[in-house]
This record gives sequence, C-alpha cells and structure tokens, in this order.
Amino acid sequence: MMQGMNILDTAVAGVQASGLTKSYGPLKAVREIDVTIAAGETVALLGPNGAGKTTTIDMILGLVRPDTGIVRVFGREPKAAVRAGSVGAMLQTGSLVAYLSVRELVSVVASLYPRPLPVDEVLELTGTEDLAGRPTSKLSGGQTQRVRFAIALVGDPNLLVLDEPTAAIDVEGRRDFWEAMHAIARRGKTVLFATHYLEEADAYADRVVVMARGRIVADGSPTEIRAKAATRTIRATAPGLDVAELGRLPGVRSAERLGDQVVLSCADADAALYHLLGSYPGLRDIEVRGAGIEDAFLELTGDGATSQKGGRP
Ligand SMILES: Nc1ncnc2c1ncn2[C@@H]1O[C@H](COP(=O)(O)OP(=O)(O)O)[C@@H](O)[C@H]1O
Ligand SMILES: [Mg+2]
Repeated sequence: MMQGMNILDTAVAGVQASGLTKSYGPLKAVREIDVTIAAGETVALLGPNGAGKTTTIDMILGLVRPDTGIVRVFGREPKAAVRAGSVGAMLQTGSLVAYLSVRELVSVVASLYPRPLPVDEVLELTGTEDLAGRPTSKLSGGQTQRVRFAIALVGDPNLLVLDEPTAAIDVEGRRDFWEAMHAIARRGKTVLFATHYLEEADAYADRVVVMARGRIVADGSPTEIRAKAATRTIRATAPGLDVAELGRLPGVRSAERLGDQVVLSCADADAALYHLLGSYPGLRDIEVRGAGIEDAFLELTGDGATSQKGGRP
C-alpha cells in the first residue's frame, strides 16, 4: 500500500498513539500502548477476545478517553479529525437506523460529510447495490455489515477503522468483504482493522500488531507474525524426567510438568522432537500438536507456559 506515495503523504502519520492506558476499575484494559500507523498503511490489530483491541480503537476514534497517553489522527486530536470527515468507522457494536432503505440511509450519511463519494459508487464498492431498495430492518447479519461498511466509506475518509467487521459474516461473504476493503486500501487509504483471526490479518494487512492482555506483544509483517505464532506443543509421558533440562533442548521455548506428562512449547518442534527421541528413549505417548492461536498469543507475551487456562485477568 506504500507504493507511489510522496513525501508529503508520509510526513504526518495516519495514527500516532503513545503511552495509551485505560483501566476499568481494577481491570487494566490497555496498558501503555505505543503505535504509529503511516498514512496509506493497512494494519491489523490482532488478538484474542478481551485483549484490548476495541478499547484501543475507541480511544483512537476519540470515543473513550484514555487515562494517560495521547492520540493523533493525521496530526490532530481524534475528535477534530472525525469532525473534519477524515475518519470512517465500523464499530463492533451498533445498529442501523430503521425505517429507511439502504440507499436512503447511505445518502443521509453522505449528506453529513463535506466531500462524500457518490452513493452509487459506494453501493457498488461494498456489494450493496442489490440491497439499495431494501429496508435496513430486513437485512441478514452479513448484509448489515456490508451496509455498515458503506456508511463508513461514504464520507471518503482518509482513515478507515474497522472493529471485527466480519464477525457476523459467513465464510464466503468474508472473502468478498475483505476484497472490497482491499480495493479501498489500494486507493491510498489508511486502514486499521481489528480481528481475532490470524488468517484475516495475514491475508489483508501490510502489518500486524498483536495485542494480548492490554499490551502490544508483537508488531511486524504478516510473515514475521505467522512465524512467531507457529508454536507447536509436544506432550509425552515421562515420569521422573527433569523439566528444566527438557526446557533447554534445541527448539524448546518452555517446558512444564503435568503429573506424569511433560508439555514442551516449541519454536521448532522438529528439532525438539529429534533431540528428545535421541536423548530420552524411554518416552511414551508422544504427541505433537499445533498450538491454538490463543496459546500462540500467550506465548508471545512471554508467560505462555505458566499461564492458567481461562485465568486471564
Ligand atoms: N466499558 C467497560 N467497562 C468495563 N470493562 C470493560 C469495558 N470495556 C471493555 N472492558 C474490558 O476491558 C478488556 C478489554 O476489552 P476490549 O477492548 O473490548 O477487548 P477486545 O476488543 O480485544 O475483545 C476486557 O476485559 C473487557 O471486559
Ligand atoms: Mg473488541
């Protein structure tokens, strides 16, 4: 998305957030986040439920006031950027105004912006032309999301913020949605979208920022993040083996004991298995599994092996 941009476009970041913190009572939803998104970049905010993605996005949009830290959107306060029509958003929650047709609704929203896109063009871009005459109360979940996308776009914003936009869309519809998003991004827009699917982040973002427990735990290209998330786990029955020793095997990130079993969390499970079999012929019931994305995220926080399942704050 960075090709063909001139120096003026890159001089001011699309989003600049520094030292962002937000707590709800004792719960630290977002802890000291720093993130800069270049103008024209498409960034995925990836993390499990409860990671703090929505809170971060709502602070970037000026909907939630941070406890500490500052946000600038194209160099301005979020609310000023929103008022100027520079920002289009699809929030995680929200519904459509009833009693209007899709075209009427998109037209009304367009009239609120200084330089809207032609309504027909937006309906076409978002695949909602066929729904134009339909009352907004008669839409499926996926159709509603596409109309909400049209509403986010019609003001022709420079920054598009999408919070888990495909949550209500079936698998087939998702691809269409992301293709439409990609077409918009190619017009030089800055896009920030939240997702808890690694595949979506991988396929449609230039850069992936991973959040877990209110912190940014990784920030890199999709390829880099995919490699980091590719943690595999080896389990085996091994009474009496020293887990500390196993933890030092090549390819092993951490080791823990669960009764008679040992569980090795591996950066390189092939290397670990090779050494494990060579050094400990007495192992039984060996099992190698791909870690779920949730485990991979926790691993990225640096305390994956010691964390209790379901015990996250
Ligand atoms: N308005 C709120 N009041 C209290 N707790 C909240 C509120 N909003 C979010 N939280 C909590 O903050 C944490 C982060 O939530 P959220 O930002 O919605 O995460 P995500 O979008 O990654 O699922 C969660 O533990 C959530 O329950
Ligand atoms: Mg959320």
